[in-house]
Amino acid sequence: MDSARLTWNSNSDFEIGGYTLTMDYAHGGSKIKSENRRFLLMKAKNFIGHYTSLVPDECRKILELGVYQGGSFVFLDQLLRPDRISAIELSGAAIPALDQYVSDNKERARLYYETSQDDVSKLQEIVSKDFDGELDLVVDDASHFYEQTKTSFMTLFPLVRPGGMYIIEDWSWSFQDDFQDPNHDWYPIPSPANLIIDLMEDMTRSGLILDIQVTRELLKIRRSNAVASRVMASQARRGRAYNLL
Ligand SMILES: C[S@@+](CC[C@H](N)C(=O)[O-])C[C@H]1O[C@@H](n2cnc3c(N)ncnc32)[C@H](O)[C@@H]1O
Repeated sequence: MDSARLTWNSNSDFEIGGYTLTMDYAHGGSKIKSENRRFLLMKAKNFIGHYTSLVPDECRKILELGVYQGGSFVFLDQLLRPDRISAIELSGAAIPALDQYVSDNKERARLYYETSQDDVSKLQEIVSKDFDGELDLVVDDASHFYEQTKTSFMTLFPLVRPGGMYIIEDWSWSFQDDFQDPNHDWYPIPSPANLIIDLMEDMTRSGLILDIQVTRELLKIRRSNAVASRVMASQARRGRAYNLL
């Protein structure tokens, strides 16, 4: 199966499968609302190639964490045409355009509002019910907070099939200038960059991680063929104090 084609209208606007995706990124959220067949995608253009390079046949079961206005959900679904796609979103504020999209695709698509990425039992229930217990692709674009991102990873990565992929977006915010200000709301929050050491450590210890690709935009973590077990269950830091960034 080939990926659907993107037709670019401008640097921030493209068509896919009869939908228009408008890209606009703002910390705290873009002000653009999705309406009808036009969806707000809160990503910059340099993220797009990471997804268009995925192989649709390898992405039949997709779980997304954090939808905002739903543009990424529609983008992933139209690009890869998976057999099943589900997403969770912390907010309970309805996104009518996305609700309509999910309803139009109700055999394949599910959306869970008011669901946090660190709700372990809910995540397990979704994977069990919607995906028969196994995922091909997880895209985490939710809190971008270290602890919550790690909880999702520890819960979901063992449920990714061998060869499947786990993507974590926007891991690098804590190094950016805006976030150096002690008055910034996110200043006290540990950086998701801490996860990179956890991932390297776990690649050595549990054997579930085949490889890790670190790019400016996101982390791509590939599942190995090892029999599923727990990830990040232990540390091996030779007694060194563990100070979070
Ligand atoms: C960066 S936006 C997602 C953008 C969307 N994926 C896109 O590309 O258009 C992050 C979203 O994650 C949601 N979020 C924040 N914390 C979350 C959590 N703990 N669990 C689930 N979703 C969360 C926010 O409400 C927000 O809608």
